[in-house]
Amino acid sequence: MQKPTAAITGIGSYVPEYILTNHELAETLDTTDEWIMTRIGIKERRILKEENEGTSFMGVRAVNNLLEKTNTKPEDIDLVICATVTPDHPFPATANIIADKAGIGNAFHFDLNAGCSGFLYALATGARYIESGMYKKVIIIGADKMSSIVDYTDRSVAPIFGDGAGAVMLEPNFDGLGIQDMILESDGVGRQFLHQKAGGSVEPPSIESVNGGRHYVFQDGQPVFKWAVSKMADVSVEIMNKHNLTADDIAYLVPHQANMRIISATAKRMGLDPKKVMINIEKYGNTTAGTLPLCIADYEHKLKKGDNLILSTFGAGFTWGSIYLKWAY
Ligand code: UT7
Repeated sequence: MQKPTAAITGIGSYVPEYILTNHELAETLDTTDEWIMTRIGIKERRILKEENEGTSFMGVRAVNNLLEKTNTKPEDIDLVICATVTPDHPFPATANIIADKAGIGNAFHFDLNAGCSGFLYALATGARYIESGMYKKVIIIGADKMSSIVDYTDRSVAPIFGDGAGAVMLEPNFDGLGIQDMILESDGVGRQFLHQKAGGSVEPPSIESVNGGRHYVFQDGQPVFKWAVSKMADVSVEIMNKHNLTADDIAYLVPHQANMRIISATAKRMGLDPKKVMINIEKYGNTTAGTLPLCIADYEHKLKKGDNLILSTFGAGFTWGSIYLKWAY
């Protein structure tokens, strides 16, 4: 029997209603709209304000949107993978909670943490379950409530992140559409530049850890920037070359939305016209695992069956990678 490829057959998304603008940030922080727009490219970001609600609140809404759009019954789902760095709880997995709340009763589910590359790694993982022939409907979620770990008194981190969730359906395809190839890479040396110091097993939460602000995102921006610029471009060009793809062959680059300057540098190295780059950083900021599906959701109406997409990410770990896929609908 012919081996299937794994194709994205639908996409759902959810962002919270509350819009935190640069101007609102500048009321309490020593920053300006001009600095944030020039250095990062973000105008506003969404913040989940609902009390006692976490990442699953957004994940469930993205999944419900996906099930509705694809006309899929929750009981037909085989597997749910949720990529996140801000799970509802250290355990159980947020994927368990989302599946339960979405009425997905016949699947197994787990979380995956690969920083901002989480969605790309989860898509790569889910694809293998489809390609094996054992599973027919796999949901991949990228969701983060970054506002739960951002210090809003730190001007070097507060403007960057936002909250949001996206979810895609993966199904077998026998026409050669869907995921064609992937390059996934990591280097643990990068952990010193981007991490959360407390709240894990090394430094469990305590009054001291909270008073010291060690439960917040720590980022040394410049080394992260340098690595991101070179690695995201390297891996995107590498997958193009491996498949003899020219800029003309590519419909869209789907880049992680961390900094407009990183996105532009990647597109330039690929020789891509800026019109072929999916961008929504100005309205959502960096939603960590959410960036790729939120971008694809925004551009879904422009995509055509057979379009070549290159997905590309860089994140904490460090982790980075690219996926080459042919859009299937
Ligand atoms: O998604 C995971 C991967 N993460 C990334 O890809 C992020 C990579 N890094 C970056 O995007 C950038 O490094 C940042 C956006 C985080 C920072 O931009 P930068 O151009 O590297 O700025 P910098 O850290 O070198 O700071 C330059 C100056 C400093 O002032 P002095 O020391 O030159 O006087 C900062 O204190 O800008 C200052 N600064 C700010 N000024 C106004 C830092 N943050 C702000 C701010 N508003 N929000």
